[in-house]
Amino acid sequence: MNDIEQSRPHVFITGASGLLGTALINELIGAGFSILAHYHTHKPFENEHCHWVKGDFSSVGKIRDFIRINKEALSSCSILINNYGPITSTPLPSLKARDILHDYHHNVIPVFEFTRFFINNAPLLAVVNILFDGAGKFQPYKKIVSYAMAKNAIISLSNSFASQYPGIRFHLVKPSTMKGARVKAKDGVEVSPHTIASYIREILTQ
Ligand SMILES: NC(=O)c1ccc[n+]([C@@H]2O[C@H](COP(=O)([O-])OP(=O)(O)OC[C@H]3O[C@@H](n4cnc5c(N)ncnc54)[C@H](OP(=O)(O)O)[C@@H]3O)[C@@H](O)[C@H]2O)c1
Repeated sequence: MNDIEQSRPHVFITGASGLLGTALINELIGAGFSILAHYHTHKPFENEHCHWVKGDFSSVGKIRDFIRINKEALSSCSILINNYGPITSTPLPSLKARDILHDYHHNVIPVFEFTRFFINNAPLLAVVNILFDGAGKFQPYKKIVSYAMAKNAIISLSNSFASQYPGIRFHLVKPSTMKGARVKAKDGVEVSPHTIASYIREILTQ
């Protein structure tokens, strides 16, 4: 790594090859950050200030393998953006226990594993956890029941970490449905991924 790259604050982003992730990379590079960007199957672009790391988070063992393999690079990051969090939309009458386990695994476990690793191994200043606009409202859902349950669990987890580690800033960001998302907004109201990325850049640079 060259001197310029070392002087830029390092940010690790999970699910960085997706819709919000790519907007975040562009926004944060523009604000002077160096990005360690996680992808699973494809790297959307190359940039001198973005280093891509491949990982499959479909089991706890695979997440831990990813952390072990990339320990040195991860340990240099002072900001963690827990962006990975697949959206599922199963109607309640056909919801299975395995759907609930799936959403807990893919949304809550990576947040837990990465936050714990960064607290213990990196000069962590801030964590951003990505939820969705209904998170925290504890309302009934017809379709996104298990997704909403998992995102609400992240609120409890994040608040618990925040009270235990007052020196680290924990942010909860609640995006509306984004333009280009696979799941469309019922009310038709969509925001651009850039809007959310720009908001996150603001909270990280204020
Ligand atoms: N999209 C929306 O409208 C919306 C609304 C509210 C909240 N959110 C939240 O915003 C965050 C970002 O959502 P998004 O829509 O930007 O995501 P997305 O475009 O669906 O991106 C999915 C990401 O997850 C990665 N991925 C897929 N399977 C994986 C696996 N098995 N292991 C590890 N990584 C895997 C993908 O990697 P590859 O592409 O490299 O395979 C990609 O980087 C999520 O937390 C989501 O819940 C989204």
